[in-house]
Amino acid sequence: MKSRFSLATFSLAAGLANAALPLPNPPWMPPPVSFGTQRSSQRSTSSQQPNAQWSTLVGDLLYFYEAQRSGNLPSTNRVSWRNSSATSDGADLGLDLTGGYYDAGDYIKCTYPMSWAMTSICWGAIDYGQGYDQANQTPYLDDMLRWGLDWLIKECRSAHPDPNTLVVQVGDGNVDNDYWGGDQGIASPRPSFVINATHPGTDAASSVAAAFAACSALYGSSTPLASGSTPASLRDPAYAQTLLTHANQLFSFATNTPFQTYQTDVPAVADVYASSGYASDVVLASLFLSLAGNSSSFFNLAGSYYSDFSMSITDTTLNWDDKSPAIPVLFTQLLTQRQDISGGSQDDLDTWRGRAERFFDRILDGKSRGYLTEGGLLFYDGDSNDASLNPALNIAMIMLRYAPLASSSQKTSDYEAFAKGQLDYALGKNPMNVPYVVGVNPNSPLNPHSAAASGGDDIGDIDSSPVDTLNVIYGAVLGGPDPHDRFYDIRSDWPETEVALDYNAPMLTLAAMGVSKFSDDPYYTSLEDGAYASVKPSGTPCDEAFPCEDGLSRGATIAIAVVITPVGLVLIGFLARSFMLRRAQRAKNKSIV
Ligand SMILES: *[C@@H]1O[C@H](CO)[C@@H](O)[C@H](O)[C@H]1NC(C)=O
Ligand SMILES: *[C@@H]1O[C@H](CO)[C@@H](O)[C@H](O)[C@H]1NC(C)=O
Ligand SMILES: *[C@@H]1O[C@H](CO)[C@@H](O)[C@H](O)[C@H]1NC(C)=O
Repeated sequence: MKSRFSLATFSLAAGLANAALPLPNPPWMPPPVSFGTQRSSQRSTSSQQPNAQWSTLVGDLLYFYEAQRSGNLPSTNRVSWRNSSATSDGADLGLDLTGGYYDAGDYIKCTYPMSWAMTSICWGAIDYGQGYDQANQTPYLDDMLRWGLDWLIKECRSAHPDPNTLVVQVGDGNVDNDYWGGDQGIASPRPSFVINATHPGTDAASSVAAAFAACSALYGSSTPLASGSTPASLRDPAYAQTLLTHANQLFSFATNTPFQTYQTDVPAVADVYASSGYASDVVLASLFLSLAGNSSSFFNLAGSYYSDFSMSITDTTLNWDDKSPAIPVLFTQLLTQRQDISGGSQDDLDTWRGRAERFFDRILDGKSRGYLTEGGLLFYDGDSNDASLNPALNIAMIMLRYAPLASSSQKTSDYEAFAKGQLDYALGKNPMNVPYVVGVNPNSPLNPHSAAASGGDDIGDIDSSPVDTLNVIYGAVLGGPDPHDRFYDIRSDWPETEVALDYNAPMLTLAAMGVSKFSDDPYYTSLEDGAYASVKPSGTPCDEAFPCEDGLSRGATIAIAVVITPVGLVLIGFLARSFMLRRAQRAKNKSIV
């Protein structure tokens, strides 16, 4: 016990020693929307590498995370309209849990989806990290990651000598959902919810272990994980070691206590991000631990867990809840790029490639649960009914990463074309002519569901108080269009307009790939000014924020019935409150479909 405590204390001290990269002075700031209309071919430096448009997009996407910061903001804060906030988080447990990031358009901090966002970003910065370097955004990547990782370290260690403790949420979903306003009046109380040895959560503990391990690998080694790129230039061996220590401890907590989802014993999180399982979290954490520690035993353990859990990845999607489709892709990367860890057996490679390609081919052949909307967006009933872009972008992210490792050149080009098509869709090549990123083009959405950005404080009149959004939350990826490719740009319409940590993550990796890999600009540079205005639908959408008689998907209809009954709301009441139950429904849709 004592030695474990000393080790943790030592690592924490090492981690907080500030070895962060210096930030540019003057700081990089997002350019005005007009910049996003300049095609590279129209600029004097036409064949400019790196591509300035992709580089700027990387900068914007990172800037979004800065706008989501909680706690005491540093002097380097670039988001002038944000203030220090929630500065007594953790006080209920006698802990300092200040810092970290607000999850979405409101003010709670959610460990489980946030740790997936961190995992995904660190993975992308390992295999396509050169894009951050070329875009001169690596210091901001470093700053962004440390803001999240240092908070996760507090969550599992702050004043806790017991390695079997992890804070899984700060803020009560129901209290928080009754508040709409700025960062100075955030609703309280803000209770902290924990898992521990007697009330474990295999999914949350493994997911945070995966984030620590993936980011440890990024900080610890410059060995490539993709041919033709290198990790972002972030080496900090002491920090890498701190992260690895925490990853190991959390993983042993996850796998030496009874296996169960974290909401089993902490029901409060079920109102926010209930998870449907832990298998993919455990396997992904083992794989990233193998990468971070150069450990073939963790690599073999990942394979054993995959079999023990009888996992199958034919028809799942990829999001904060389920990471299964990422698993064969990372296995393939390790088997081809890191034979020192994986052994590189041809049999294993055939197996994992086969699994990856079956998953991708089913999507391409139209045989998966996901289908293409008329406008071409990969859509999963239930998973895509709010935040439709998220499953599509997550799958595009792993497909593009996998493409060069495919078993034939035909597959390589098919995967590249499909994945790039999803990215193009998200960046404006869609029936609405909308790039679903705030502030990158004149056709970008104007009404993100972000309380802080909106400038409003009237929960009864989110849409017109104020009419015009006060603060541009540059770089925020929004939920996305409905199943008919329609987008209404209504602030209270959280399924389409909310912002979130995990929505930005896959776009960030894709944009980093774009900096050095894509020959063309982001699609939005070719949109005419007013292209969205000319096709924008009138009226209101037909979704969980604006339920309507016909056209509501079956998944959504059932979810409403399920939500209303236990909560005891009548339908009228539900209409007004619907956005407040956003995440709960997200989870419920998921478990119903
Ligand atoms: C930050 O504080 C200023 C001054 O009190 C306030 O006007 C502004 O609305 C705050 N920002 C947010 C996002 O609440
Ligand atoms: C363990 O976690 C449960 C569930 O969150 C909590 O009620 C309990 O107080 C925790 N135990 C300790 C010793 O912190
Ligand atoms: C793992 O191996 C890589 C490449 O050989 C090396 O750069 C890195 O420092 C090693 N990491 C650890 C934790 O041993």
